Amino acid sequence: MTVHFHDQRQRAACTSLREETLAGFAADPKAVPPKFFYDRRGSELFEAICRQPEYYPTRTEEALLARAAHDIAEIAGRDANLVELGSGASRKVRLLLEALHPASYLGIDISKDFLLDSTQRLANDYPWLDVHAACADFSQPMALPEGFDGHHPLAFFPGSSIGNFDPEDAQRFLGNIHELLPEGGGLLIGVDLVKDKDILEAAYNDEAGVTAAFNRNLLERIRQELDSDIDPSRFEHHAFYNEGASRIEMHLISPQAQQVRIEEAHFDFAAGESLHTENSYKYTAASFRDLAGSAGFDTVATWTDPRELFSVHYLQRVA
Ligand code: AVJ
Repeated sequence: MTVHFHDQRQRAACTSLREETLAGFAADPKAVPPKFFYDRRGSELFEAICRQPEYYPTRTEEALLARAAHDIAEIAGRDANLVELGSGASRKVRLLLEALHPASYLGIDISKDFLLDSTQRLANDYPWLDVHAACADFSQPMALPEGFDGHHPLAFFPGSSIGNFDPEDAQRFLGNIHELLPEGGGLLIGVDLVKDKDILEAAYNDEAGVTAAFNRNLLERIRQELDSDIDPSRFEHHAFYNEGASRIEMHLISPQAQQVRIEEAHFDFAAGESLHTENSYKYTAASFRDLAGSAGFDTVATWTDPRELFSVHYLQRVA
């Protein structure tokens, strides 16, 4: 089976590594959006993070999806047009396919080659499934691609990727999904939960150093794709839980003062200065239900594991 590919990158306004990096390095404090982690190497490193013993979200969510698959199918009904946002390796969706039996699957991801490989493998493994792929930045408002006519769309947003948005942006993002769905349309979403600080911090500081390599790969990418003298080895991975804001923060710290050049611009780092690379917000089941409600969604069902590490929610668009 062949994958129907829809290239939407031209329509996605603001995915320019160059512009957003230059703006982010010029800002105070310095910051780069986490979507730029995901070049091919970054996507591979992220898959490796998911296998680290400290990184509980992936295996916890997969167990939840496997256990809930039949309930989810009952709520959603058969022949859905399943749309996955940030589909990456398209691995989690496999836990749903037998039970849900969707009419079609559309994977949307910012990492084009990785997306094409992943969806092609899915198409090979599920010959009965009509597989589509679209390269797009889902942090920007978007439409479903032409030629993909989903009359019974079910959005799937696993992995707690919603955690990358600040709360106001998360509400706006859910509002965009609300626009894409017809009344009664579903959104199946994975959300990481507030918990003990030690468990959270271990998940973003794995012993093997994979998260540190993932974080530094952002600079490697700047060095390779832009004209820059930035040296990733001169920055240190720093991740901690900001309890007041309910979020993990990832930074790259410059231990010494240094100047880096990107294209024609020069940027000074003071000793100890940070480049903020990611926020990963954590919710309670109740705080997430409130957020969903504020974007026009009812929470039809919520699944959590016994240790309450992670949650999966089935949301339904209300008028
Ligand atoms: C893909 C945003 C859900 O926040 O846990 C993992 C990304 N960063 N380790 C997360 C990530 C460092 C991940 N999300």
